[in-house]
Amino acid sequence: MLMTSAKQPQQQQQQQLSTLFSLRGSLLTLAILTLLSFTFLSLKYSSPSPSPRLSLSDSLPDSLIIDQHSANHHQLDHDDDDEEYTDIYHSPRVFKLNFADMENNFKVYIYEDGDPNTFYQTPRKLTGKYASEGYFFQNIRESRFRTLDPDQAHLFFIPISCHKMRGKGTSYDNMTIIVQNYVESLISKYPYWNRTLGADHFFVTCHDVGVRATEGLPLLVKNSIRAVCSPSYDVGFIPHKDIALPQVLQPFALPAGGNDIENRTTLGFWAGHRNSKIRVILARVWENDTELDISNNRISRATGHLVYQKRFYRSKFCICPGGSQVNSARIADSIHYGCIPVILSNYYDLPFNDILDWRKFAVVLKESDVYQLKQILKKISDAEFVTLHNNLVKVQRHFQWNTPPIRFDAFHMVMYDLWLRHHTIKY
Ligand SMILES: *[C@@H]1O[C@H](CO)[C@@H](O)[C@H](O)[C@H]1NC(C)=O
Ligand SMILES: *[C@@H]1O[C@H](CO)[C@@H](O)[C@H](O)[C@H]1NC(C)=O
Ligand SMILES: *[C@@H]1O[C@H](CO)[C@@H](O)[C@H](O)[C@H]1NC(C)=O
Ligand SMILES: *[C@@H]1O[C@H](CO)[C@@H](O)[C@H](O)[C@H]1NC(C)=O
Repeated sequence: MLMTSAKQPQQQQQQQLSTLFSLRGSLLTLAILTLLSFTFLSLKYSSPSPSPRLSLSDSLPDSLIIDQHSANHHQLDHDDDDEEYTDIYHSPRVFKLNFADMENNFKVYIYEDGDPNTFYQTPRKLTGKYASEGYFFQNIRESRFRTLDPDQAHLFFIPISCHKMRGKGTSYDNMTIIVQNYVESLISKYPYWNRTLGADHFFVTCHDVGVRATEGLPLLVKNSIRAVCSPSYDVGFIPHKDIALPQVLQPFALPAGGNDIENRTTLGFWAGHRNSKIRVILARVWENDTELDISNNRISRATGHLVYQKRFYRSKFCICPGGSQVNSARIADSIHYGCIPVILSNYYDLPFNDILDWRKFAVVLKESDVYQLKQILKKISDAEFVTLHNNLVKVQRHFQWNTPPIRFDAFHMVMYDLWLRHHTIKY
């Protein structure tokens, strides 16, 4: 009895509290909704050419439209055509607004300390497997995103690059020790790491050597944002924290393909090493096929008359099976040459797949689909193929590095992914 009577007022109190909370909750929801619609409207009116799909503008009073003129001075205003923001993106409008926001606000601090003769230099030549890494290092140094004031920074860049060390024949074990000593020196010298235990720090490495060299620092792997070229879940890639860096072998030997469908007479193409199970199966099942051009031999990139690259121009679909590393430059090659990439892989995070809708310009298959590969590709109608091809041309700029960087190129896409990640870090 005593217990129940003692309980009752408590229950009542709880009930009152919960009513209060739900009231507060709905007020809060209302406030958030108001804020959201307000933000939506102001964002809408700061955009130079409102999308025709959103017809709200027609019914709004002139007083709101005036805002548009003042908003024109806002830096969101670029000479973009809304046609650029098509459904190759998951959310074209969000991408457009957020991208402009990033361009105007994003700041990164680059740690300077480190022995320039060991490891953190920009690779001298921006080619080969290190190209994506090298371009990133060079781009960020000359970009508007760099700040010399760590207090202004949203994120901190730890410039680890194993290029030099590898060139000098440093052992993997020693690289790990060198990287560990370097990062530990940053941790004890600067206050920034300890505030989040590295969560607002990132590093960029295309070669898997760079990934291995960070293994001496569990917090770097666990907390920091890793932009890496081998984003497979079974090698510790954490998709909502890490970033899939596209591996691009630049310069390209031949110009970009596109709008050349009549020349694409081969259904599918692949030539490469059989250095993974899926590649062995691909070659075994399809090597003698008359419609699929599958060679279980690598065609040297240096082969005269650019035989390898020209095959990309002649094919509709280019098969991209995982190799010894899941990623390879083949995906970026396919995109560049206008050949629809056919991703044949399980557990693989495609570059920028939180921004780009890969199914709009690629064919994404599981490894077990290899046995029906030809049937799957033949079922894709000409109209669907044309749509895929036209979309592929639209994404080409996102898979290309430039110095200096250009809006929407691979560098800006990586920066945008970093910008998205920084929202989740509370400091
Ligand atoms: C690794 O570091 C040790 C100690 O500094 C050195 O003696 C050794 O030569 C290094 N090995 C390589 C391959 O760099
Ligand atoms: C950060 O924390 C580590 C471990 O507690 C400590 O050794 C280091 O001195 C700290 N860094 C700073 C700048 O206080
Ligand atoms: C198709 O191939 C021919 C021969 O290589 C070339 O001259 C022509 O420009 C190509 N067409 C297109 C649209 O690229
Ligand atoms: C493809 O042709 C070669 C040469 O005729 C033959 O040795 C091989 O077994 C064939 N492969 C398949 C999968 O039929």
